[in-house]
Amino acid sequence: MEVKISPSLLACDFARLGEEAARMTAAGADMLHVDVMDGHFVPNISMGQPVLSCLRRAIDAMLDVHLMISHPLRYIMDFARAGADLITFHYEAEDEPHEVIRAIRAAGVQVGISIKPRTDPEVLLPLLPDCDLILVMTVEPGFGGQGFMADMLPKISYLRAAADRQGLSPMIEVDGGINAETGRLAVNAGADVLVAGSYLFGAAELPQAMAALRS
Ligand code: DX5
Ligand code: ZN
Repeated sequence: MEVKISPSLLACDFARLGEEAARMTAAGADMLHVDVMDGHFVPNISMGQPVLSCLRRAIDAMLDVHLMISHPLRYIMDFARAGADLITFHYEAEDEPHEVIRAIRAAGVQVGISIKPRTDPEVLLPLLPDCDLILVMTVEPGFGGQGFMADMLPKISYLRAAADRQGLSPMIEVDGGINAETGRLAVNAGADVLVAGSYLFGAAELPQAMAALRS
């Protein structure tokens, strides 16, 4: 399975967002992960669509937008217009998931759905055929730099097996506490997109860190 890497810009120096993004794509990132937090769905606030549209103008890379917000439905058009290539929303965000999926599709953007650590992966089974990507959170969303929750690994295998049984091959992305070791565990469990923030932005040698994640 080919592993894709999506550096989380949450860990970068926001004053140099464009350069930091370019540094990651030059090192071989397949996409860039943009964490949107509203201070309501999660306790933290990060960035929104104005920042995304600046990033869109600054860089030609796939933008993987992770909405950790309440009422995602209200904001789908805004993030699509701002330049998202893929929009992932949370199952727990309470808007009707099929409606959110339809809105993302109607905006011409790829669809991702995510579950928090305490959410049963079974809830995603009926939605698998409609999603391009499933994001399994391996930390409680809201903050970078937390430790990987190894007890999320069975969720990844469960969802990969369920997708296989339905003849589907969505991307399965993991986010939170990913480094060379935890990334390997996640890939072995069936993930194929690794989000990494502090591991990549904190790396002394970025090319080596990127290669270690990919191997
Ligand atoms: C957490 C965010 C993550 C975060 C990952 O809520 O969704 O994308 O930036 O950061 P690390 O890789 O440092 O755990
Ligand atoms: Zn994220």
